[in-house]
Amino acid sequence: MKFFVDTADTNEIRELAATGLIDGVTTNPSLIVKSGRDFKEVIKEICELTDGPVSAEVTALETGAMLAEAQELLKIAKNVCIKLPLTIDGLKACKALTDEGHMVNVTLCFSANQALLAAKAGATFISPFIGRLDDMNIDGMELIEDIRIIYDNYDFETEILAASIRTANHVKQSAMAGADVATIPPAVIKGLAKHPLTDKGLEAFLADWAKTGQSIL
Ligand code: E4P
Repeated sequence: MKFFVDTADTNEIRELAATGLIDGVTTNPSLIVKSGRDFKEVIKEICELTDGPVSAEVTALETGAMLAEAQELLKIAKNVCIKLPLTIDGLKACKALTDEGHMVNVTLCFSANQALLAAKAGATFISPFIGRLDDMNIDGMELIEDIRIIYDNYDFETEILAASIRTANHVKQSAMAGADVATIPPAVIKGLAKHPLTDKGLEAFLADWAKTGQSIL
């Protein structure tokens, strides 16, 4: 499963990119406002930090206006992936952009039928929002499982990008359900490496190593 970082914080992206574990980045208008930075400027900087897809979201609601915004965003870098909302206008824009060979991430997906439409529109990625469904006491992971079955039934190439991930358990469940990508907040990515028994075991090994009085170098 590929890992995208779900943030517009370039310091966090730089730090995580250095691990070699990051395959791309997703942003949205809420993350842009949180960064406090100019939208196009921050997307440009993120595109320089990763070779992978960097999702930049349009804010227009009508197809023609979405396409105009997309053309502007595509000028920023070759790894810009246009993020479009799952509406009929968004799907029309998705078809037009993917027909031209551009990457598109269709966002705000909350049902399997929406995901089916996005695949038919040629989306590169579909973003089912797990956490926001869980917030409503609806099992977000079931949505990932349903989309996996539907996409496999018809050999759709659209990648399932598990979004709105809040916990390490969401990451594990997404991988088990066969999501192609998970977009994950930086703190959750860092938390994946942590286990109290790893810390405890390392501490004991180092204490014993010190008793040998040896050094490897
Ligand atoms: C990413 O593409 C999504 O916009 C993001 O994961 C949404 O996460 P949230 O539901 O925590 O805002």
